[in-house]
Amino acid sequence: MKKFFALLPALFASALFAGYKTDGAFDISTNGVSLIVSYTEDKTPHFEHFGKRVNPADFVGLRELSPSDVGSPSLLYPERGGKNFLCPALAVKHSDGDLNTELRLVSTKKSLSKDGNVETTVVELKDTKHQFFVNLIFDAYKKENVITERAEIINREDGEVVLQNFASSAATLRAGKYFLTHINGQWAHEGEVSEDELTRGTKSIQSRKLVRTTLSENPAFMLSLDTPRNEKIGEVVAGALAWSGNYELNFECDEFGRLNIISGIMPVNYALANGEKFETPKMVLTHSASGSGQASRNLHDWARNYGLYNGSARRPIILNCWEGVHFDVNEPVVREIIDDAADLGAELFVVDDGWFGSEKYPRNNEHAGLGDWTVNRAKLPDGIDPIASYAVSKGLKFGIWIEPEMVNPKSELAEKHPDWIVGAKGREKPQIRNQWLLDLSNPEVQDFVFGVFDSVMQSSKHISYIKWDANRHLEQIGSSHTPAGAQERFYIDYVRGLESVFNRIRAKYPDVIIQACGSGGGRIDYLSFKYCDEAWGSDNTSPAARLFIQYAESLFYPVKAIGAHVPKSGSRNLETTMKFRSDVSMMARFGIEMRPANLPPQERADLKRAVGVYKKIRDVVCDGDLYRLISPFESRTHAANLFVSKDKSRAVLFLFQYAFDSVYHRPFFRLDGLDPDAKYKISEINTSKPISPMRGKTVSGSFLMERGINLLFNGWNQSAVFELERVK
Ligand code: GLA
Repeated sequence: MKKFFALLPALFASALFAGYKTDGAFDISTNGVSLIVSYTEDKTPHFEHFGKRVNPADFVGLRELSPSDVGSPSLLYPERGGKNFLCPALAVKHSDGDLNTELRLVSTKKSLSKDGNVETTVVELKDTKHQFFVNLIFDAYKKENVITERAEIINREDGEVVLQNFASSAATLRAGKYFLTHINGQWAHEGEVSEDELTRGTKSIQSRKLVRTTLSENPAFMLSLDTPRNEKIGEVVAGALAWSGNYELNFECDEFGRLNIISGIMPVNYALANGEKFETPKMVLTHSASGSGQASRNLHDWARNYGLYNGSARRPIILNCWEGVHFDVNEPVVREIIDDAADLGAELFVVDDGWFGSEKYPRNNEHAGLGDWTVNRAKLPDGIDPIASYAVSKGLKFGIWIEPEMVNPKSELAEKHPDWIVGAKGREKPQIRNQWLLDLSNPEVQDFVFGVFDSVMQSSKHISYIKWDANRHLEQIGSSHTPAGAQERFYIDYVRGLESVFNRIRAKYPDVIIQACGSGGGRIDYLSFKYCDEAWGSDNTSPAARLFIQYAESLFYPVKAIGAHVPKSGSRNLETTMKFRSDVSMMARFGIEMRPANLPPQERADLKRAVGVYKKIRDVVCDGDLYRLISPFESRTHAANLFVSKDKSRAVLFLFQYAFDSVYHRPFFRLDGLDPDAKYKISEINTSKPISPMRGKTVSGSFLMERGINLLFNGWNQSAVFELERVK
């Protein structure tokens, strides 16, 4: 007994110190952010740090203090098997039925892009027992402080393996508290911002809708460490998965207060034959030591330089006729709207839904015609080219709407190719908006979808823009192309099929502008943006609602990628002034969504003025730094955004009172991001009735940032816009 008590301290010590001891460490670093990987003597890799830049040498010889019976947390790419009890990034059924994997470090290789801005690190891992390999590929974007991660999973075993979990990335954070911000909602209400404190257990952000996944939940997050999210202060880790299909982002608070984040495609059983490789999508990660504003700016910079198709190009001002005429497009109406678009100063005209359909199934409403991509000669007797040429003759570019992944049951396509339609044999196929989904896992369907795009492009040499819509998601699964025993592959193969179509499109049409529209904000993610220049922000064009939606989308995506069109008054039942409507739309990729002939003369003049104003401020808004000064979610009455040019010589300030409290409430709008020592001349723009006593004044950047501007709004839905120019 005595002996036992004598042994106790030793037993206790061994339990306490049973964690791992690091033998080496390396970093994946940008100018300001480091991801540190350590490894033990047996080459088990651990995720040590993601945050401010630190020295990897400090992580060598460390001892992790965890009791022996709780497994090995904070693995670099946590596998099912070994000592891991946490949510795995990787779960595999090996060729011999073994469910365990234990990855060990084989090598790390680094390479640098020509311009020195992107460092790629390939971390090669191998299972201790099987010929089974994982390469983790990290790209560190130095200036943008963004690190992307993806995995290649390679089966060199004698037989087939089944992947059951195959995340893009895993990360372990170590803080006192974690506050998760994510955006969610529903059709026409996409941009709800939720913030939850994470406590012990797992919170998961998911979509199972396959198509237009981001109407209801976006595959992106911000984690504020220790304190709730603040735009200017505190540590924030942000991430966005570049995937336009089902996904799962898991946030697991473990028993030691660590937060383990696993992000990737929604797991399904996915068989890999011998020699086959599975490539995951990219997870885009950033860290800010100065609040969520900087985290967004990092992502915006990365997107404009790398993550958004043609991200550095200037976006045209678009007039889309959908809310103006809906399905009633015809040649005289289109010509009338083109004339008006040119008169207003727009730069691109888009003919939306309703221009196509067979004689049997014309597309006059949402009940028929989808899938039959021939011009409706009753509406456009001479086809697309005359209207496209007409737009060009008026100095406009021309764009057109398609929805090539979908089909109405009432269409010749559905009659001809029932096997191309997603749905289970022997069950009634549910419809959404009277339509079904085509099976893009099938190469014949991929050819068809590519062909729709190609033939539309070939119908006139004047087509510069395609609005690619997708107005349903997936419920019932069933692919006649996919083997009966492996139907769940379809969830992944569909997206791969879509990617392969987009790769063909981009090889042939690198310059056409493509808008991703999934009933509005249904396809706002970094896989869409790999191929598409922009997305439609929401089918809700009501300006007060758009203040919220555009705020939410700007957390992860640059405003130049979000289409925001001025509607007619009364859109979604809200009467507003043209000024208020146009001020809201000017904070993104500006456009117009109406039949201008219906506008009262004063509104038309105001709209024309707004188009001119946007042309002057567009570069600052689209390519500058965004400072969200007041969140509509937090304020309940006001919202404010400031865009500052990269050299801080120009800025545009947008102030809104979307709800009225009292004339006695005159909030101060304190600016940010300016040069404190510079003097700025203030002009109030986009109005004939300026309301600010600050207009025309020249004041210092520090005054604007410390004291700020205050304003007297006296009603609902009012706004003011200021241009600030540095005075030499
Ligand atoms: C979706 C889009 C709209 C419009 C219609 C056309 O709802 O989001 O912008 O194109 O389809 O049917």
